[in-house]
Amino acid sequence: MSIISTDLTKAVELLNNDELVAIPTETVYGLAGNIFSEKAVKAIFETKARPFFNPLIVHIPNIEYLETIVETVPEKAKLLAEAFWPGPITLVLKKKSIIPDLITGGKDTVAVRIPNHPITLNLLKQLEFPLAAPSANPFNRISPTKAEHVENYFKDKIQMVLDGGACKSGIESTIIGFENGEPIIYRLGSTPVEAIEAVVGTIEVKNKKEVAPEAPGMLERHYAPKTKTILTTNIAEAIETYKDLKIGLLTYNDILNDDAIAYKIVLSEGKNLEEAASKLYDALHQLDQQQLDIIIAEQLPDYGLGKSINDRLQRATK
Ligand code: TXA
Ligand code: MG
Repeated sequence: MSIISTDLTKAVELLNNDELVAIPTETVYGLAGNIFSEKAVKAIFETKARPFFNPLIVHIPNIEYLETIVETVPEKAKLLAEAFWPGPITLVLKKKSIIPDLITGGKDTVAVRIPNHPITLNLLKQLEFPLAAPSANPFNRISPTKAEHVENYFKDKIQMVLDGGACKSGIESTIIGFENGEPIIYRLGSTPVEAIEAVVGTIEVKNKKEVAPEAPGMLERHYAPKTKTILTTNIAEAIETYKDLKIGLLTYNDILNDDAIAYKIVLSEGKNLEEAASKLYDALHQLDQQQLDIIIAEQLPDYGLGKSINDRLQRATK
């Protein structure tokens, strides 16, 4: 029997009983549980096979709730919250002691955001606690952007996927921390750097693990298909190199046909980066199911959401 359902009342009941529910957001599906339930939070880590040192994002219903869980909100964090919430920006702020150490991997900061999805906002309003929710995929695998992706990963290991359709943005939130009151990007994501700079001015990006132990989730290899995947700026050359293998191609807008390609996905014929981002993970899920020898992925233009997409493709091919 499918665990996919639109029954909000059932989702509320399960969450109130320390169970997990996969929830839709505008970025990717999350594997959600009550932040104050040790049972639920432990189950999140176990179900994902995620190491305990990698902290979880806390999803809250409104800006007012922030003061319940964080000590201070720097001026620029306020500006970002007002500009982008509900939406795909996560702020890392000094936590209050009410936030369990299990959520933050023992750190004194907590990552928090208001997701922009009508069903999940409605759900959060009906609960008396925020939801901890990492992306609903096993550790290091491709994030889910459809209810079916979550079901395929976890089958009956979880009781319910709350169906909210395909995720609109399609890549995870942009994570921003603060050092001496100044914002720093720890993870590129669905809110482009340019949009953030329009609100708070020039911002540093520190998203490599070596320089950002602040965001322990930024592993070099991540978001990865099982099939060997390479990233290139020259697809013609890569196809020639691997022509004896069964090739899958992931391209931005190239619609040429080549007999050497067994399976091909075009992310956006009209070269629209938002469309490409929304289709990226579903494309990787599909390619990974074709029994290919290799996936050749084309690098996208390196601005706007293209930067975030390239970041994910690089981690998928490490
Ligand atoms: O779009 C998203 O952010 C999705 C949806 C479900 O909201 N969630 C998501 O969660 O991508 P997850 O757990 O897959 O990624 C959370 C990232 C990890 O890289 C983690 O290391 C980082 O956030 N993080 C969490 N708490 C942190 C903290 N206190 N300091 C620094 N990084 C933190
Ligand atoms: Mg994740």
